[in-house]
This record gives sequence, structure tokens and C-alpha cells, in this order.
Amino acid sequence: MRLILLCCLLANPVFAQQSTDQSAPESGSDERRAAVSLVPQTDAAVPSEQWMVSAANPLAAEAGAAVLRQGGNAADAMVAVQSVLGLVEPQSSGLGGGAFLVWFDAATGHLTTLDARETAPRAARTTLFQTDGQTMGFFDAVVGGLSVGTPGTPALLEEAHRLWGNHNWAQLFDSAIAHAEQGFEVSARLASAIDNDQEKLSTQPATADYFLPEGTPLSAGDTLKNPAYASTLRAIARDGAGVFYKGNIAQGIVNAVQAASQPGLLTLDDLAAYHVIEREAVCANYRGADVCGMGPPSSGALTVGQILSMLEPYNIAAMGPESADAWRLIGDASRLAFADRGLYMADEDFVPIPDLLDINYLDERATLLQREDALPSVEAGSPPWDQAALEVEWGQSWSPSRASTSHISIVDAQGNALSMTTTIENGFGSRVMAPGGFLLNNELTDFSFATQADGRPIANRVEPGKRPRSSMAPTIVLRDGKLELVVGSPGGSRIIGYVAQALIAQLDWGMDPQQAAAMPHLVNRFGTYDLEQGTAAEGLADELQALGFETNVRDLNSGLHIIAHSNGRLTGGADPRREGVVIGK
Ligand code: GLY
Repeated sequence: MRLILLCCLLANPVFAQQSTDQSAPESGSDERRAAVSLVPQTDAAVPSEQWMVSAANPLAAEAGAAVLRQGGNAADAMVAVQSVLGLVEPQSSGLGGGAFLVWFDAATGHLTTLDARETAPRAARTTLFQTDGQTMGFFDAVVGGLSVGTPGTPALLEEAHRLWGNHNWAQLFDSAIAHAEQGFEVSARLASAIDNDQEKLSTQPATADYFLPEGTPLSAGDTLKNPAYASTLRAIARDGAGVFYKGNIAQGIVNAVQAASQPGLLTLDDLAAYHVIEREAVCANYRGADVCGMGPPSSGALTVGQILSMLEPYNIAAMGPESADAWRLIGDASRLAFADRGLYMADEDFVPIPDLLDINYLDERATLLQREDALPSVEAGSPPWDQAALEVEWGQSWSPSRASTSHISIVDAQGNALSMTTTIENGFGSRVMAPGGFLLNNELTDFSFATQADGRPIANRVEPGKRPRSSMAPTIVLRDGKLELVVGSPGGSRIIGYVAQALIAQLDWGMDPQQAAAMPHLVNRFGTYDLEQGTAAEGLADELQALGFETNVRDLNSGLHIIAHSNGRLTGGADPRREGVVIGK
């Protein structure tokens, strides 16, 4: 059986408000209950028995499915998905960016991660984003060459294939090359992103030529070809990812960075020195399952793990998704975790990080939630340090992080699972296009622009060769060593909230992957509760305000891609807010 779940064929549950008497779980606090259900009505997920791929674009998911059909595994399929995403969703991820990958090996039960985060050029200094001692405005720093870090994605494709792949490397690029040469249809989402970004895109001539031909933004349905990208992929397919880091493609990147409206520091030496790092997965136990993901330089798994660990003592399941008390707990656990994130989390190869998942520490933090209303204020805690001698007093940093990015979830016929979040950071990254037909990232703006706060150094300050702190949270959940969930999302620092909510929706509230992906969002990072506009989440505003939260109704643009595994069956979810699909067999 072959299954394709197109997001657009589903009733769009995000905008469908439902009455309370539909599927509201039991709660001990009926007086604090949303006026409408937060459990989306979606078509029942049809299970597959062999493999599944969930990704943000139908052409990309289909490229992965084609590889899986031919007997390739999840690592092989990822190479095909990513190379097509870089073409059809260029605003979000691509060869010019970086990614984090979590891998579950079915044969050994081993879980590991690959860090393909961009690095700061060797010439970068802590004051990279300061002029005359003042921090630059965010977009003043983003647009142009200064924000470009050494890309990691091409090296990641090769390393994942070397470690786990079994399919012919060159053939993994066939779909992307064919679409790039024959042309693909510009999607509504890409067209809208171009339309909204015309001013910044037009500052970089090569970028403007591609997305705004003769000054007119591409429209949905236009056919777009990218022969330069096809030629880059042909070189990588033939000679490996090394051709990206040395030679003509590398020289083209350096030239583009140096010729950009705001020249950057990236050199051929930076490109030649790039390497992917295999790191141990970071895991937290929640409701008897191991929730595992990407450790530093990502803050993803540590922050998601802290949120869930602080919620563990509370019966969120009984409260149900419409309970304001449940959201008080989730919101304040998230605020506490974000306070630790701001102070302590950065690239661990450069700064020591305390044991932020220490269970005694988190039990103590969880007691702060034993109250009737929102925490009036939140501060970072004092987690234990492995080595007291390394203890450092850091300053809080709140570096901005905007939403573009994409997430790929795959389970193959052998039961291997891959969760990969991939990005060029901002929508269209630095807006600088390399001659090889791909956009370059602005990942360096994920560093703190400031060097110190209150006289203390900031852990996530810029340093040469360092990887900027990320919020990406590709996640794999195991129970008794067996695969249970593959989850991840784009969304800047709200990724953490989207992923934590999707996990709670499935592990506490029993939602299936499509319901979890479609559920209205409530996200709290620094105090203000963001409630998803046009959804049942708005119905909780009065109660959350009565509890002491500020609320803000806004667009919350997640892109969750989820696969659940139970009793040998796979079910999938693709976020209806984007263009993604699930394909399974
Ligand atoms: N640039 C988005 C992130 O890494 O979180």
C-alpha cells in the first residue's frame, strides 16, 4: 500500500474551531478550560508498514520516497530530499547552510548525532556585529557577506552516506538535477516569500536576477530552472562533497561573500578546514521514554529536555490540552529552561556547560511551578558543574533567531530512523547567492551580537572557528530501546516550543502525528505567551491573562514533520501550515 497525505487535502484543523464536547479529555480544573477544543480534527493517519518520509515539499519527499522504493535507506533518502529542498525551498535550507542530524540504527539500537553547523571564519572576532562599540541592527548584520559562516550541509550529506548509506551516491542527486535542469513549478509558499522579501533580495544582483527576473518577483506556478545548481550537484555526485570545499565552487563562494554589499570574512582556508562532528545524543526521560536529540552547539535537546523534565511530576495528561493550568505549567517550565539557555548554552567546544539535565537540579526547578499562577519573574538556575574549576560566570544573551529552516523525518524498511533539521537561518539566508546556484547562510547572526552583559562574558559570543548556538531540535524518542517517534520543526527559537508541544501532544494527550503537527500553538519563551492567530489557542487568552501571563496573538509558523512507530506500523504527520507531505509504503 502506498500512502500520500497531502497537507492541503486535510481539513485545515488549525483554523477549524470545534466545540468543547468533542474529545475533551478529563480535567480536574473545568473552570480553566479553553472555550473550544485544541485537539484538531484530521483524517485518521493511515499506517504504513515498510518505510515513511515526511518533508516540507512534495517534490523533495517524493525524491526520498523514490530512493526508499529502490531499497535505499534513511541516510540515502535524506541526501535526495535535501538536494531537492535546496532547489524548491531555497529560502529555508540548502548547500550553503548547515544542519543537525539524529540517527537511530535499528540493527544495533545505537543513537548518535551529526553536527554540521556552520563555523565562524578564522578572522572573525567577538565584535563582528558591532560598529563603534554598538551592536548592529539584526537585518543590517544579516544581509550581505558578513553573516556567512562556513557551510556544513554538503559535508553532512557525504558523512551520513559514508557512515550509513547503501545506495549509489551519484544517483541520489538524480531527482534534484532533473528538476533543476528541466525546471520546477514555483510553489505558493516560495512565491509569497519572494514577494515579501523583494527589498532585501534586490540588494544582491545575482540573487535578484534569480528570484526577481527583470525586476519582477517570480509567481506561483512559474517554471524555474537552476542550471548552476544542477552543475554543482553533478560535480558533488561525481567527485564527492570535497569539490564544494576546494576548487571552483569554493572560490565562487569566497568571491560572492567578498563582493557582497557588506563583504564578509570567509576564506578558502575556512572552507578547506570544515568538518562534520559526530556527537553523543542528549537524552531526557519523559513518561518512561527517552527523548533524544542534538546537544550543543544546539540548545534544542537541552532546552526541550529541561522543559519535559520539569513537567514530569505534573499530571499534564489528566489536565488535557484545553486546561489553562496545563499551559501555565508548560509556559513557565519553558521560561525557566529559556533562562538557562540564555545564560549557559553555546558551542561546548569553546565554553564549559554545566549539567543542565541533572535530575536533582531539575526536580528542584520543577518545585518552582507548584503554585496557582504564573511565575512573576524567572532567572537562570545554578546547575551543577562537573568540574568546579571550570565554573564561569556568564552573562545572559538573547540573540534573535528568525524562522526559516526545514525539517526531514524518515524511517526506512530496516527500521533506521533519521531526524534532521536543516537551515540557512533567515528566509533566503544572507541573500547572497553563490555562482554554484545556491544561497549562502546568515548563520553567524545566531551568535550574540554583544560580547558581555553586566560585565560578564556571554557564552554565545563570536569566536573564530566556533559554531553559533542553535535552537534546532531534531528529536528521536525511544521506549525500551525501540523507536517510538521522529519529530522536528523549523521556527527559530520557537522550534523548542513547537517540538516540546508536539511531544506532549503525543506522549500525554494521545494525539496521532497529524493531530500533533496541526494542533494550534501556544509558545512561551521569555514571558509573553504567543497564541496562534485564528485558532482555538486564542480562546485561552483570558484565562492565561488571569493567571498573570501577557499574551500575544500572532502567526506561529511551525513546520513539524513527524513519524510515529508502534507495533511495526508507521504513521506520519506533515504540518498543514507549510507545503509538506508524508509518503509511506
Ligand atoms: N538558525 C536557526 C537555528 O539554528 O536555530
